[in-house]
Amino acid sequence: VTAPDLAGRHVVISAGGTREPLDPVRYLGNRSSGKQGYALARTAVARGARVTLIEANTQLPDPAGVDVIHVDTAVRLREAVLKAAAEADAVVMAAAVADFRPAEYASGKIKKKDGQEPAPLALVRNPDILAELSADRPRAGQVIVGFAAETDDVLANGRRKLRHKGCDLLVVNEVGEDKTFGSEENEAVVLAADGEETPVPYGPKEALADTVWSLVLPRLL
Ligand code: PMT
Repeated sequence: VTAPDLAGRHVVISAGGTREPLDPVRYLGNRSSGKQGYALARTAVARGARVTLIEANTQLPDPAGVDVIHVDTAVRLREAVLKAAAEADAVVMAAAVADFRPAEYASGKIKKKDGQEPAPLALVRNPDILAELSADRPRAGQVIVGFAAETDDVLANGRRKLRHKGCDLLVVNEVGEDKTFGSEENEAVVLAADGEETPVPYGPKEALADTVWSLVLPRLL
């Protein structure tokens, strides 16, 4: 798609995976490379949108023509997304956000003690940014899009997640140790709150991104 059909629109995209630190050396993280989120950013620019990309821990160069904000944790990602969302026509949460973070951060490297079993890791819940955006709609009439990364019962879990999160569109994709994360391709079913389901066959992440924008477009005010 090369038509400037998103001209005059501001879209906010999150990409990459949050890291939740345990100490200055270690973190809890995930396998997201950011490629799907960056494909969304590139395709939105190509279609004329003003794009704010909020990235967490990717190794990717900033795409041309995009405002890029760099964050690390889920809490920081939330702050940046909510701030940018206040002026956005659409928000797409492609980032893999940790549901939990360590309950405590040790300011010095945690040491192993001879002869002792490791202490269990206490976790606390992170804010659910997508659910919060969907409930609060920082700007009236904006379109909120989530992703669902599933390993089993992909579609059933995706349908449940759509209801639970309250977003307008949910891109359901299957993930695994070497599936979707870091690859150039993806396949998905895009679920809409109005019941429409759009399968997107295996292909470049740009193709899925373009389908997402084509489904966002008619839902914009
Ligand atoms: O980055 P790549 O290597 O290209 O891989 C792409 C991808 C697999 C990361 C991407 O396509 C994808 O599925 N992103 C969403 C990953 C994820 O966190 O899925 P989830 O099912 O755990 O979360 C559902 C939705 O809620 C997501 O939109 C997520 O951004 C959001 N969420 C989750 C937890 C949380 N605390 N806050 C959130 O906003």
